[in-house]
Amino acid sequence: MPSATIEVRDLAKTYPGDVRALAGVSFAVPAGSVFSILGPNGAGKSTAMKILTTLARPDTGSAHIGGIDVVRDPQQVRRMIGCVAQRSGVDSSATGRENLTLQGRLHGMSGRKLARRVDELVEQVDLTAAASRVAGNYSGGTKRKLDIAMSLIHRPQVLFLDEPTTGLDPEIRAEIWQQIAALAAIERLTVLLTTHHLEEADRLADRVVILDHGRVVAKGSPSQLKDDLKGDAVQVDLIEPRAVPAAHRALAGLEAIREVTIEGCAVRARVDDAAAAVPLVLAALAADGVNAVSVTVARPSLHDVYLHYASRSLSELEEETTR
Ligand SMILES: Nc1ncnc2c1ncn2[C@@H]1O[C@H](COP(=O)(O)OP(=O)(O)OP(=O)(O)O)[C@@H](O)[C@H]1O
Ligand SMILES: [Mg+2]
Repeated sequence: MPSATIEVRDLAKTYPGDVRALAGVSFAVPAGSVFSILGPNGAGKSTAMKILTTLARPDTGSAHIGGIDVVRDPQQVRRMIGCVAQRSGVDSSATGRENLTLQGRLHGMSGRKLARRVDELVEQVDLTAAASRVAGNYSGGTKRKLDIAMSLIHRPQVLFLDEPTTGLDPEIRAEIWQQIAALAAIERLTVLLTTHHLEEADRLADRVVILDHGRVVAKGSPSQLKDDLKGDAVQVDLIEPRAVPAAHRALAGLEAIREVTIEGCAVRARVDDAAAAVPLVLAALAADGVNAVSVTVARPSLHDVYLHYASRSLSELEEETTR
């Protein structure tokens, strides 16, 4: 089956209590590509996903998947898509294989065709060892893999993933990224995923939109977005966290410096010309008696792009997520 495009035009939704979740969002996802919606908590990511997966209705605007209107023809859209929601849909009392089989039956599959598809997916997401165990005892990563396999049982053309790796260890996260990329290629999927993890979008997505307060604040390929952010990034790594405020003050006082942000034991800033800025940075740090481990220069990261466009800092966001 060929993969399908996604087209979203001017989507708006306000929840009761005057909470404006989406304020006119538009984007297009070419067939067979991986697309990511990036944004802080409450940006409207899940609301956009719910509308696209026919679980919520927009107030205004439209969304089409493979040319089919998600509001007018939800049944037809549901047959074309697979969804991994932010919360797991796994039945804890059933085994992995039973979960997959039940999901297949819900899609009208049965017999040998279903059994073969279950075997195929168990192998693809590397669940062979866990498939006959009860899912209630699975680790978070194994449960997520089962969620992904379940979403693909009926061979959808489009896969939606709402924060697929939030809360997982870095190793498991990397493994799931690999699986998503492999599945997208093998099953010829169009993939739309939301994420807080910039690295996730950088690794997986051909194109991204950054949402903030229900609006698109930037869109493009990760490398395009990084290139659009002119200049370089200068990072000052410090020995002690105590030195961070003084380093921040020293850098913020320099005219050549923009967007000074704190990342753990480092202070990061953007400059137009790193060669000219580094001596000034070193002098300012020395004048304020700040001891730095290193001062490094890099091209802007997707993190810098994100900080530039989203109104809240990522560390604030990550703090909220881990709380
Ligand atoms: N059912 C609802 N009723 C009222 N307000 C809601 C509802 N669902 C979401 N909201 C609000 O709409 C806004 C957007 O929420 P949404 O869940 O789409 O954001 P998100 O980007 O997915 O956030 P997160 O990263 O925390 O998952 C938030 O302010 C949220 O509190
Ligand atoms: Mg969400």
